[in-house]
Amino acid sequence: MSVNLNLQIRTASINDVEHIYNLYSSLSPDDLYMRFFSFKKITEEEIKNLISRKALVTLIAEIDNNIVGEASLYEDGEFSLVVSPNYRKMGIGTKLVEELVNQAMEHKLDKIKFYTLPDNIPMIKIGKKLGFSLKFDEDEVFGIKYIH
Ligand code: COA
Repeated sequence: MSVNLNLQIRTASINDVEHIYNLYSSLSPDDLYMRFFSFKKITEEEIKNLISRKALVTLIAEIDNNIVGEASLYEDGEFSLVVSPNYRKMGIGTKLVEELVNQAMEHKLDKIKFYTLPDNIPMIKIGKKLGFSLKFDEDEVFGIKYIH
């Protein structure tokens, strides 16, 4: 479902660190695990590093100046994202991944890929909808889309 929101998707800058930190702080341990494959809390320093060095591109989804989602693409084509629990099922995750695919094209990557858990229904739906090939294992789902 896509809801008509005043949604803007843009590249994150170093000025967004505090707001991204607030978004991560609002997440449950399970959500943090889904986003980072780790249960530890993310520090502001790590967010700075993510934006300035680690990720090829970090996008944020913003509604009326509130950051409601974040998505990062890495040089090897892997990406991960999170949408604030209050703003899920509104199409924001789909839009973030669509824009990451565009970014992967612009950066001339040959593929874009993600890993998730088999019970992550929204992520599996997004992958299917956007034409990713999905490989299901017992404890992991791997999605990949080749870019021509
Ligand atoms: N159960 C079943 N379906 C769900 C769902 C749920 N809990 N949440 C969303 N969906 C469906 C939507 O209705 C939509 O279906 P449609 O394509 O048929 O319309 C599809 O999944 C995609 O939903 P969308 O609204 O675009 O995604 P979202 O904004 O809710 O964000 C995630 C999806 C995965 C980013 C979000 O759930 C999240 O942040 N999860 C925690 C972190 C995470 O898992 N990140 C992924 C790491 S790779």
